[in-house]
Amino acid sequence: MPPIVRRHPPAPVLVAIDGPAGAGKSTVAARLAARLGVPHIDTGAMYRAVALLALRDGLTPPLEGGAEARIGELMAAHSLDVEVGPEGTRVLIDGEEVSRELRSADCSLMASAVSALPAVRCALVPMQRRLGELHGGVMEGRDIGTVVLPDATLKVFLTASPEERARRRHRDLGGCGADTSLDAVREQQRQRDLQDTMRAESPLQVATGSVVVDTTGLELEEVVERLLGEVARVLDGGA
Ligand code: DC
Repeated sequence: MPPIVRRHPPAPVLVAIDGPAGAGKSTVAARLAARLGVPHIDTGAMYRAVALLALRDGLTPPLEGGAEARIGELMAAHSLDVEVGPEGTRVLIDGEEVSRELRSADCSLMASAVSALPAVRCALVPMQRRLGELHGGVMEGRDIGTVVLPDATLKVFLTASPEERARRRHRDLGGCGADTSLDAVREQQRQRDLQDTMRAESPLQVATGSVVVDTTGLELEEVVERLLGEVARVLDGGA
């Protein structure tokens, strides 16, 4: 009798991209996802959505004791829908599209504060895993390689010099916020870096086995080609 061969469909490609704000994660993740034909999953948008709930409730950073319980109530009281596709991540709160509102400077600082709360991470991490398991994807954040998808096909840590990161963020904001001078952007970045790397809960760090890419002075396509090469290498058995 011939041996029984079980053919499993190939596991979906999952790429985890972590790194500080301004390292180029979003642009690289979007382009890489398009080239691989998988969704681009922006987990920062999910923390930003929780931040928006908190801001709308009148909370301001730094968060005092008691805020975590209140934010837990807010998450329970509102529906948070995340739609992912090759064109990016859309976030809806109670059916309202809020993707644009999530980009304000206030929301950035509040997102950094709420993302340090265990209750928030406990609620969002399983949602992120499910999104990845569904169709694969290029998922970007701060703890994707360390916590959310430690078994991703490829783990990437993107970084860039603080000055270059601030310049990129300043250019991307393009005057759509209240105080978006380069100095203000640099200062906000310093505060967020400190919060994101020093927090007790899933701090930003390089996951074991990550490919580390410093994007300072590199063109987008150079980074994407390098990562496509890494994905191909892993899928070929790591040669
Ligand atoms: O990537 P971003 O700037 O949109 O993220 C917003 C905030 O959320 C940022 O301060 C870090 C935090 N974050 C996180 O803690 N874990 C993630 N997986 C994604 C974002």
